[in-house]
Amino acid sequence: MSATLALRRGAASARGLGPGIALAAALAVVASWVAGGLGEPLARNPVLVAMLLGLLLGNAFACPDSLKPGLDFTKRYLLRLGIVLVGFRITLHLFSELGIAPIAIAGVELVTVLVVLRWVGVRVFKLDPELALLVAAGSAICGAAAILCVAAVTRAREQHAGIAIALITLAGTLALLVYPVAFVAGFLPGLDDRQFGTFVGASIYELAQVYGASFAVSEGALNTATLVKLSKVLMLIPLLVVLGGLRRRRDRATASTTPIPFPWFVLGFVAVMLLNSSFTLHPQARRLILEFDQFLFLMVMIALGLTTRLSRLKEGGVGWRLLGVGAVGLALSSTVAYGLVASISARGATTETPAAESAMLASTGGRLFSSSGCDKCHVPSLRATDGDSVTLFSDLLIHDMGPALDDKIVQGNATGADWRTTPLVALHTRRRYLHDGRATTLRDAVLAHGGEAQVVRDRFFRLDDGEREAVYRFLSAL
Ligand code: HEC
Repeated sequence: MSATLALRRGAASARGLGPGIALAAALAVVASWVAGGLGEPLARNPVLVAMLLGLLLGNAFACPDSLKPGLDFTKRYLLRLGIVLVGFRITLHLFSELGIAPIAIAGVELVTVLVVLRWVGVRVFKLDPELALLVAAGSAICGAAAILCVAAVTRAREQHAGIAIALITLAGTLALLVYPVAFVAGFLPGLDDRQFGTFVGASIYELAQVYGASFAVSEGALNTATLVKLSKVLMLIPLLVVLGGLRRRRDRATASTTPIPFPWFVLGFVAVMLLNSSFTLHPQARRLILEFDQFLFLMVMIALGLTTRLSRLKEGGVGWRLLGVGAVGLALSSTVAYGLVASISARGATTETPAAESAMLASTGGRLFSSSGCDKCHVPSLRATDGDSVTLFSDLLIHDMGPALDDKIVQGNATGADWRTTPLVALHTRRRYLHDGRATTLRDAVLAHGGEAQVVRDRFFRLDDGEREAVYRFLSAL
């Protein structure tokens, strides 16, 4: 084949992708515009609006064939690109901070949902075992991708894969719409935003839906959810090996070995994360990348919505039974994940020391911290409305920090020198300090304090070296 022919073919297939991608991009712009006008909490999460818009349009009008290649490309490859770019939000440090518990939760969730849901599908709802396995795999691991991989390994019928994907997308969409709203409205007591991230990462099916549901709450939730979800995606590999082995044992006659698809994009994500841990991007560049990333996810949501046919569920006359399995799957995955996360967070809460002030005054460093006046803003503990106190070493208020910390960005009533007191708890987990991470030592961080903190800072630097060291030691132990 000549090079020009290959080139022409490439160009033709790229042109085939054009309409679908362009439509997804255009609707993504519409979705973020609409979301902006809807007010909180939807304004913070155009992803939800994009999914709804896609579903609405996709089911009201038949999707023309000319759009399909581009929409499929968006769902497959732009989704993967989007996930790789999420690596720019995450560092190794965050990963190590995550700890083993969330990953263990994801593992327990995976096995429980897979085994129980398959059993329920076959025994209670009398589904074809092949279809039940696909639905269970989609619910337990990562939605459509897991279904396609499992279908490839077990050589399931294509029609079954299609039905399972439609069901899982629908159930996941429901979770995407309901979980963040439930969290913000206080229906998931006992979880903070990171634990909500673990809950979402462990229980929601599709990566894009995980992204949407966690980003609706906070960036911290998003980071945790992404890490948990991706560890779960990696667990797909051992599962495929086991299922492939079982299948081969069942039909020894067909000696063909199905190659197991490897989720390469996870490696891409890890590579970007490593890059992000070792280099600091220019903040402006990083912001542009993250905004582009969010736009990609909007496009993916639109494409998912446009191609999810609700009518597909009626195929094969198993409609209501499928919906039953879908509902059981949702209830199961959310209760298991919530139960695990809440029980772990309850155990963590009882070990916290409430008497932060007395602990502070027990050490020399703590006493000097207090006598210099640092605790005027870095208040050891705040009392919550329910009477409990939280240890933060912050008043959570905004202060004018003087010219050294001024980034010249004026927004609303805030000048560039206005910053909220950073809580000093868990200070030892940070390697860089201040809003832009410019300080790498505690000394530099304190030295940058000006404005309202000027007097306190000057008092602090009049202490002798040994006394200042004692304060740094006290801070590093928080
Ligand atoms: C007027 C209020 C105020 C006082 C007084 C004050 N701070 Fe701060 N502190 C802040 C604010 C606001 C920030 C965040 C500034 C930023 O991000 O640019 C901060 C940030 C810090 C940080 C960096 C934390 C991080 O992780 O980024 C450290 C360390 C710190 N303060 C220590 C001290 C010490 C020690 C003292 C006493 C000498 C002190 N502060 C007094 C308001 C104050």
